[in-house]
Parts: sequence; structure tokens; C-alpha cells
Amino acid sequence: MAKPSVLSGIQPTADSFHIGNYFGALRQWVSMQETHDCFYSVVDLHAITSEFDPKVLKKRTLTSFAQLLAVGIDTNKSTIFVQSQVPQHAQLAWVLSCFTGFGEAGRMTQFKDKTQKGGQERSSVGLFTYPILQAADILLYQAQSVPVGEDQRQHLELTRDLATRFNNQFGKTFIVPEAFIVKESAKILDLQDPSAKMSKSSPQGCVFILDEPEVVMKKFKTALTDSGKEIKYDPVNKPGVSNLLGIIKAITSEEMSLIESQFVNKGYGDLKTYTGELVVEKIIKPFREKTLSLLGNEKELSTLMTQGAQKAEKVAANTLRNVYEKVGF
Ligand code: TRP
Repeated sequence: MAKPSVLSGIQPTADSFHIGNYFGALRQWVSMQETHDCFYSVVDLHAITSEFDPKVLKKRTLTSFAQLLAVGIDTNKSTIFVQSQVPQHAQLAWVLSCFTGFGEAGRMTQFKDKTQKGGQERSSVGLFTYPILQAADILLYQAQSVPVGEDQRQHLELTRDLATRFNNQFGKTFIVPEAFIVKESAKILDLQDPSAKMSKSSPQGCVFILDEPEVVMKKFKTALTDSGKEIKYDPVNKPGVSNLLGIIKAITSEEMSLIESQFVNKGYGDLKTYTGELVVEKIIKPFREKTLSLLGNEKELSTLMTQGAQKAEKVAANTLRNVYEKVGF
């Protein structure tokens, strides 16, 4: 039997992915390769919905693609591609936009959040229709499962609604996908502010995969910890310490009690150093080196991109052809 299919996407909007991206999403992408037919996309079309610089975008797209390979996405198992290289995404998005209510799109909370600062007047229409493009990403590949964070739940609901609406009107055309929401427990927090999720917008508290090992150690050594000195997992009263313990657990998969027991009679400083070294050894060094070596061979990288896009386009073209016929093109 064919494996169930999966699609997910990540925006090339940072110079490097961070360990929160890795534990919260990319690691699941890697493991799903064994059980699913996976399509993973660097969604550069989405990346131009907010302010951007073309040169920076190009570099980030390349780096993102290299990082996906470096963390273990395998082109022999999965299809990995850059969204703008597969024209069907924009084409299907247009058709779907004609099946989306204006009010329906207007209820997307992420759009409202993202426009809160600059105001809607200064936001692009592309940012408004962003979720429709995301629906096209998913529906083109007949994905059954879409691994995403909790913040994408509403976009997945819209995708399901659009698929169902289209199917009801034209007969079965799309698989109605399920969101596969990655567990909150994998959430890594800001090292400087453990009340917030780790994010590139707070670089001092964020450990980037492309950070140099010394920089990573420094970020861990200056991590904000809590009052008291006992090292135990207690996210409410000890968010800083718990975040570090959580990072250890994310890497070693040991029981928390076992991890805690290793720090009896030790201080916060020991915990920080230990966590930093573990992250450097298990994550930063291998992924960083692999990424840099891939980026050192741009020709090879661009061949992989082209091959990925061709593989993706075969599937996407099938779906789009069907859609075009059904709507009378
Ligand atoms: N909106 C997603 C995010 O910000 C990125 C994305 C674009 C995506 N297209 C997708 C995720 C399709 C899953 C499936 O995380």
C-alpha cells in the first residue's frame, strides 16, 4: 500500500533555523520520512508577503534548503523543493482564492496579529491571502497529514473547508487534510526570557543552528535561571531551569527524573554548561558543518533544488490539471 502523504512548509525568513524550529518541527519532519510520503517546501512565495530584501531572500532560501538536508531530510526518501520553482502553487492559489469568502479570509487571526503593528493599510494583499496560498501548498500534493505548530490550526481549518467546498461542488478532487499538531512539550523557550517561545526576534535568547559553538556556549552560560538553587523540572516556578532540562530531554529522551538525578548537589552553572555542551555536540556541530559544506557547493545544491522541484511538479501538475478541467479552463 502507498504510504500516506505529508506536506509541510517553512519560510526562509531567517539567516538560520534555530533549535526551537528543530525540536518543534524539523525533527518530526525527519522521522515522518520513514512512514510517510513526504513533501517539504521552503515557502519563498510566502516570504514576500512581508517586507523583504531580494538578495537576502535568495541567500536565506538557499540556506534553508541546505539546512533541511543537513538535519536529515533525505532526497531519496522525501521530496524537498523551493515553492517558487513549482508554478502550480500560485496557479492553484488563484483558483482557491475565488472560492474563499472575503469575510472568511478576514477572520484569520494570524493576519490580524501580523497587521496589528503596521496597520492593515500598510499590509499587502498577499499577506491577506497568505492562508489561501498555504491551502494550495497542501492540496496540490493530496496531503493527508500536515505537521504544523498550534499557531497554524486555523489555516489548516481553512484548507479543510476549501477542499470540502470544492469537492462538494465538483466531485472528489482533493484529499481533506488533517493537521498534525506538534506537541507543546517540544516547545523550547527563549534562554533570556523563558516566558516566551524561542524566536529569531530575540537573538540573544535564541540558539541558531549556524551559531558558532562558542557563541552557543555563551548563550547558555548567560541563560536566565530562577531563584533558589535546586535543579528540578517545575515549569511554573522554575521556567528557566525547566527549559534547560527540557532541552536535555529533547536530545537524550531520558526520563526527567533521571536527568534531574544527575544534577543533585550541582549548581545552575553546571546545568547551563552541561546543556550548552550537549547542544553543541549533538546539534550545532553536526548540523552546522553539514550545512556549511552543502553551501560550499552551490552547483550541487542547485541541482538538488531543480530535481526536487521537478519531482514536486509532477504531482502538483496532476492536481492542477484536474482542477483546471473541473472549473472549465
Ligand atoms: N504558514 C506556515 C508557518 O508559518 C508555513 C507554511 C506555508 C506551511 N505553507 C505551508 C506549513 C503548508 C504547512 C503547510 O509555519
